[in-house]
Amino acid sequence: MISIAIDGPAGAGKSTIARAIAKELGYIYVDTGALYRAIGLYANANGVATDDPAGVERLLGGIKVELRYKNGEQRVFLNGYDVSEEIRRPEVSMAASNVSAIPAVRQFLFALQQNMAVEHDVVMDGRDIGTIVLPGAQVKIFLTASPEERARRRYDELKAKGHDVDYDALLEEVRQRDYNDSHRAIAQLKQADDALLVDTTGNTLEQSVQALTKLVKERL
Ligand code: C5P
Repeated sequence: MISIAIDGPAGAGKSTIARAIAKELGYIYVDTGALYRAIGLYANANGVATDDPAGVERLLGGIKVELRYKNGEQRVFLNGYDVSEEIRRPEVSMAASNVSAIPAVRQFLFALQQNMAVEHDVVMDGRDIGTIVLPGAQVKIFLTASPEERARRRYDELKAKGHDVDYDALLEEVRQRDYNDSHRAIAQLKQADDALLVDTTGNTLEQSVQALTKLVKERL
C-alpha cells in the first residue's frame, strides 16, 4: 500500500490539496483532524471541559468513532451518528486542539489511522502523520503559510458557509492553535526530517493543488 502524509498547521490548505491529490491518484483521503474534532464535539456535548484530561479520558470508553466513505467523501460517525457537518462548527476547532493534547485521546485514535493505511492507498493529513502515525510514508509534505493568510482563508471558508465570523478572532485562534499544537508534550506539530517543506503563502489554492499534485507524482 502507498501512503502520502501531509502535515501542517490549520488553514495551510492541507485538506483541499490532500483531497485533490487523492482523487487524482485514486487513493482514499483521510482527514485525521476530523477524528479529534469528533472527540472534542462529544466532550462539549457532554459538558466535559476539553482541557480536563481525566474527564475526557473517562469519556473515551463510551465513544466509537468510525470513518466511512460516501461517493469518495469521508464521513465521520460518532456512536453511529454522522457528525461530519457538526464537527466543522468554529467552536469545535479549539475543543479538538485541546483534546488532541491528551495522550489517551491520541492513543485512542492511533490504530484507526494506521489501519486505514494498512487497508488502502491513502493521502492522510494531520499534524503528526509523517512523524508518528505513518513514519514510513512514501511521500511526506509539510505544508505551511503565514498565520494572516491562513486566518483569511478560514474567514472566507466560514463566511461562505454562512457562519458569522470575525477576522481578528480567527487570527487569534490560528495563533493559539499553532502554539498549542507545537508546544504540547506529545506529537508536536513539526516537520518530519524527510518531509518536503512547502509554503503556500501568496498562492491561490488552485496553484497549490497543481504544484503539489505534480510534486507528489514525481516522487511516487
Ligand atoms: O485539521 P483540523 O484543524 O481539523 O484539526 C483540528 C485539531 O486537531 C488541530 O488543531 C490539532 O490540534 C488536532 N490534530 C492533531 N493531530 C492530527 C490532526 C489534528 O493533533 N493528526
